[in-house]
Formats: sequence, structure tokens, C-alpha cells
Amino acid sequence: MPNIAHIQLPEFPLLLAPMEDVSDPPFRLGCKQQGADVMYTEFISSEGLIRDAIKSRQKLDFFEYERPIGIQIFGGDEEAMAMAARIVETTNPDLLDINFGCPVKKVVCKGAGAGVLKDVDLMVRLTTAVVKSTKLPVTVKTRLGWDDQSINIEEVAERLQDVGVQALTIHGRTRAQLYKGEADWSLIAKVKNNSRIHIPIFGNGDVDSPQKALLYKNRYGVDGIMIGRAAIGYPWIFKEIKHYVQTGEILDPPTIEERIAVCKKHLLASIDWKGTILGILEMRRHYTNYLKGLPNIKEHRMKLVNCTDINEIDAVLHNIQKTYTNFVMQEVA
Ligand SMILES: Cc1cc2nc3c(=O)[nH]c(=O)nc-3n(C[C@H](O)[C@H](O)[C@H](O)COP(=O)(O)O)c2cc1C
Repeated sequence: MPNIAHIQLPEFPLLLAPMEDVSDPPFRLGCKQQGADVMYTEFISSEGLIRDAIKSRQKLDFFEYERPIGIQIFGGDEEAMAMAARIVETTNPDLLDINFGCPVKKVVCKGAGAGVLKDVDLMVRLTTAVVKSTKLPVTVKTRLGWDDQSINIEEVAERLQDVGVQALTIHGRTRAQLYKGEADWSLIAKVKNNSRIHIPIFGNGDVDSPQKALLYKNRYGVDGIMIGRAAIGYPWIFKEIKHYVQTGEILDPPTIEERIAVCKKHLLASIDWKGTILGILEMRRHYTNYLKGLPNIKEHRMKLVNCTDINEIDAVLHNIQKTYTNFVMQEVA
């Protein structure tokens, strides 16, 4: 079993990726209910935590049912990262994850996220500062390297393991690739097959179907898979992969009734968590994915994103369910 420190995991765990402005508790609820084995918060600025910025603080919150859960932080300053780690520890998550993979300019410019891939010594110092500041198991999520000319994930993996990192998730792209091209899992497999590496290695990048998940499991030998975009509006991906890995059978896709029910649950959790106005507003970005594959859905979706009242949204969702009740999702899956 690819356990992380004392945290027991199933034989082939599926992890929900940290995603900024997506991986909040209302979104995580659906993923947990559909089988995500480990979940992470979106990344949180170490500097923001120290400044006690309300936005950063709120991102630390989670529910007991979400365990095992990791809180992800980022930053480019050792002292700030150490202090942030101590703040994270007070909230008692199961894991603390460091982000060394974010490609966004405003993060990279500060020498944080994937920016650290250009300076492995700094990466090691930042990680050491965090490991020494907390009793929580520390994990890292990173990319293959800065660009094609400087792929250094093998060195990174060995050095992070040496300073106490307990698991590593590798997104099979370089920083320069951003989200373009295809993730290269062969380099993830190289790390996994390195005889010096004994911590769990989780693969990440482009897994969006049970077939791909099983293929990558077998071909690349990773200890588990982290899933991001494919879970947005489709939390069933976790259940579907698990079932396929265990039985070789493809589950029927969720019916329109199930889709609408889970979407509604997400909306209500969002309102509960953020209040009515923000809860409704922030839910808008999820409708497209919940309704993906339904023909001529645009008109309904436009109505949904213009509603400001829960009863109106309810009526539109009900209407969508009625309209598509006999539609078989498999036709478009
Ligand atoms: C909207 C969005 C926000 C993201 N935010 C984060 C983040 O906060 N921390 C992080 O480590 N990765 C972040 N990522 C990267 C994902 O965790 C993941 O590595 C990437 O999407 C590739 O996996 P996928 O192909 O399964 O989506 C983000 C990705 C997306 C699409």
C-alpha cells in the first residue's frame, strides 16, 4: 500500500488535485462522495497566511469528513514558509503539501511555485524549512522541470526525499508547457523506477477516463493518480476509475437526474459555505461541466448563469432534467 507516513491509503489511491478557485469545500464534497481518496486545498500563499489575509485563512478550512486532506502552500521565502507551516499545523490537517509546480507568472516571479524548479538548492532549503517546522507529513507537488532543456525531476525527487518529503506528485509537464501539449508520463515512470526512491510517486496530467487511468497505472507503475480538470463537474470520474481498475467494467454514466442532483447539492453547499450571493456567483463556473455533452444546452446554461435567486436556478435545473430525461449520456461520452 502506498501509505503516506502513517496515513493508510487504498492499494491504488486516486487523489483530487489542488485547483485554485475550484478546490473549495463545496466542490470537494462531491469528489469525496464519489471516491476521491486524498484531497487537497487550492494553494495558499505563505505570505498571505502570515499577514492573516482573510482570503488565505478561509482556504485553510475543511470538514472532518474530508480526511485525509492536505493543505497546500506556496512561497519563495524560507522563513515565511516555515511560519506558514506552523499556522497550517494549528488547523490539524493530515498533510501539508508544498506547491513547486504553479506556472502562473505572478507566482513564478516571486521565486515560488514552478519558479523554484530553476533553483533546486532553494527548493531543498524551502522544503527543509517546512519539514523542520511541522510534525505533519510533508508532500510536494511539482512538474518535470522548468523547460525541455532543464528537466530535473529525478534530481528533485531524490533531494526532496532526502530532506524528509513523504510523497511526491509529479505533473508530467514542464513550466514552459503550462497546460499545453501532452503530459509526459515516461519521465514520471523514470522517477518511480529509480531504485533510490522509496516514497510514493503519484502521477498527474491528462487522466480523464477509466481506460486511460488503468493504462497509465499499468504502463508507468505509479503508486496512484491525481486528477484535476476531469473532476470539475464530473466527480463520478473517481468512482468510474475505481470500478474499472477493480473489475475491468465500465460503469454507466450518471443519468441526467444524478447530474442535476449532484449539481444542486454542490450549489447548496456553495451557498452554505459562502453565503447566498457569492455562493450563487461562484457556482456559475461549474455549470458548463455538469452539463457537458448535452446537445443544445447553451440556452439553458445562459439562463442559469443569469439567475440570482435560488428558486429560479432550481426551476431552470428542473427544466433541464425534464428536457433531457430520456437522453442517454453514453451517446456523447
Ligand atoms: C483551474 C486550475 C487551478 C489549479 N490550481 C492549482 C493549485 O492551486 N495548486 C497546484 O498544485 N496545482 C494547481 N493546478 C494544477 C492541477 O493541480 C493539475 O496539476 C493540472 O491540472 C494537471 O492535472 P489534470 O490534467 O488532471 O487537470 C490547477 C489547475 C487548474 C486547471
